[in-house]
Amino acid sequence: MSETHFGFQTVDERQKAQHVRGVFDSVASRYDLMNDLMSMGLHRAWKAYAVALAGIRPGDQVLDIAGGTGDMARAFAGKAGPTGTVVHTDINEAMLRTGRDRLLDEGLALPTITCDAERLPFRGDQFDVACVSFGLRNMTHKDAALAEMCRVLRPGGRLLVLEFSKVAAPLAKPYDWYSFKLLPLIGKWVVNDADSYRYLAESIRMHPDQAELKAMMKRAGFGHVDVHNLSAGIVALHVGIKC
Ligand SMILES: C[S@@+](CC[C@H](N)C(=O)[O-])C[C@H]1O[C@@H](n2cnc3c(N)ncnc32)[C@H](O)[C@@H]1O
Repeated sequence: MSETHFGFQTVDERQKAQHVRGVFDSVASRYDLMNDLMSMGLHRAWKAYAVALAGIRPGDQVLDIAGGTGDMARAFAGKAGPTGTVVHTDINEAMLRTGRDRLLDEGLALPTITCDAERLPFRGDQFDVACVSFGLRNMTHKDAALAEMCRVLRPGGRLLVLEFSKVAAPLAKPYDWYSFKLLPLIGKWVVNDADSYRYLAESIRMHPDQAELKAMMKRAGFGHVDVHNLSAGIVALHVGIKC
């Protein structure tokens, strides 16, 4: 039996996905509000930066992995235009349904597929751009998921990994205070769920840092990987090219 981590807890590998599912089932309905509150709106700027670097052109085939409530898919659809395709995917039906309904309310109907990033149901060499925004941290087998993302991209295609990362040393103490003291309290007030936001803080600490994630992406098949630190490394954008 293999073990892995769920935040700071050690769990049976086969149970991690269920724990993660519990987190996102619990927060789905107020996920967007929580994102704005806990990042003080900064997640919008981080996502806008990733969209700008994605370099999507009209007609592109784009895959949004762990797309949740659809922020990235919506922005990508605006760039790919009516001749392109943006596929919105996630393993969690509650998150995906919330996103699909929100996009439909805005007049945007995208192909929406429930699937596990570790076993993507797409043929190889298909997409121009793939993106996983704040999703990789939650996956059990990150190497397998990155290899799948590489497989479905066409040669020359780009993967964007937007994720919490290792913050610059001078900010470490205040960031820890914010993450472990304030964040669970905000979670308690807004979604009546402190544990899911404690998990968020812990999972960030357990996630590979900038250099380690870059090495993982190279091992997964990305010939070139650029790293962009955002907000002093609170978040990093890794851009991998399949070449
Ligand atoms: C923090 S949310 C991010 C949502 C959205 N991409 C964003 O940036 O706001 C993380 C998402 O990852 C999804 N997820 C976790 N494990 C996954 C997996 N193995 N395959 C696909 N999605 C997964 C969760 O269901 C959740 O919707």
